[in-house]
Amino acid sequence: MVKVTVCGAAGGIGQPLSLLLKLNPKVSELALFDIVNAKGVAADLSHICSPAAVTGYQPSSKDDKETIKTALKGSKLVVIPAGVPRKPGMTRADLFNINASIIRDLVANIAKSCPDASILIISNPVNSTVPIAAEVLKKLGVFNPKKLFGVTTLDSVRAETFLGDLIDVPAASLKGKISVIGGHSGDTIVPLINVDSSISGKISKISSSDYKAFINRVQFGGDEVVKAKNGAGSATLSMAYAGYRFAENVLNSLSSGSPSAAIPDSAYIYLPGVPNGSSLASKLGGTDFFSVPVVLENGAIKSFVNPFEKLKITKDEQKLVEVALDGLKKSIDQGTAFVQASKL
Ligand code: NAD
Ligand code: LMR
Repeated sequence: MVKVTVCGAAGGIGQPLSLLLKLNPKVSELALFDIVNAKGVAADLSHICSPAAVTGYQPSSKDDKETIKTALKGSKLVVIPAGVPRKPGMTRADLFNINASIIRDLVANIAKSCPDASILIISNPVNSTVPIAAEVLKKLGVFNPKKLFGVTTLDSVRAETFLGDLIDVPAASLKGKISVIGGHSGDTIVPLINVDSSISGKISKISSSDYKAFINRVQFGGDEVVKAKNGAGSATLSMAYAGYRFAENVLNSLSSGSPSAAIPDSAYIYLPGVPNGSSLASKLGGTDFFSVPVVLENGAIKSFVNPFEKLKITKDEQKLVEVALDGLKKSIDQGTAFVQASKL
């Protein structure tokens, strides 16, 4: 029996992501929370003949502090795509002013209503919203770093798709052969190709300009969609797929506990809170939040794959890591400082 709550369920990501969760037989209850249209989306999804019971939760007014608590109560998994998306010309960091307080307030409610839940943060800027969530949970005395995940799976999905096109192999065969580490914005996104004998011949033939173009497309894939949507938002459908892919890993770990891919999907996590994470954080110059492949057990991080020990990192990839670290530190500090200055 697993209750899942989606916060921001009526949005561009929230709706298709809720549809995918509704189809998962492991979900017994699906609570859809949004400040608009949650009941409509819930009524619609509830007609689908899969087991999950769907309920919509929408606050009756700005002063309604109870509805969110009811939506969250008893949840084992909370997925958060609530907040505003980018428009052309904006960076993800430009969303901080609006989305920081949305995440802070939602996570404070999670801390009070379902502190044991696994929390998946999709809302941007992920590089800051995850540190915000961590700081809120710390302040409220319920921080379990093994259950807080920034969802960076879309970067892996893009890396698999674009590399598959480049070397002409099915993208599905590349799952677990590209790890995307670092953060989730521009040059904080670092794709690492885990070359094995099945692809080494094709990888060695990639020209330097094609490799650079591949890296750039993964790092700025979000911008490609924002530009194409021309003011109508950012990636929603590919994100719903990616968010579901990670949520499904968490749901599977709640029942069986073992990862399926040799190298599992990455998530942006608080390194000092997971086994062997502190030494990686200090190797990264004190960068506490970083995306790495994570092995899950019972909805929590059991271990992670240390890319610097387990993967063969090339000189080009090492340079990408150094650039990523510069960008990450500022975003992490901004998120942490925001909560430290907030009254919860
Ligand atoms: P959207 O505007 O279509 O939907 C957001 C939803 O959040 C809306 O329905 C809105 O009513 C709701 N919302 C706002 N404040 C809320 C609150 N306090 N509580 C509950 N719900 C609230 O936006 P979208 O396209 O779905 O994107 C959502 C977020 O996800 C954005 O910040 C976007 O940048 C981010 N995103 C992240 C990734 C990633 O890879 N992590 C990928 C794509 C988009
Ligand atoms: C993405 O990578 O598509 C998302 O982070 C949305 C965005 O703003 O680009």
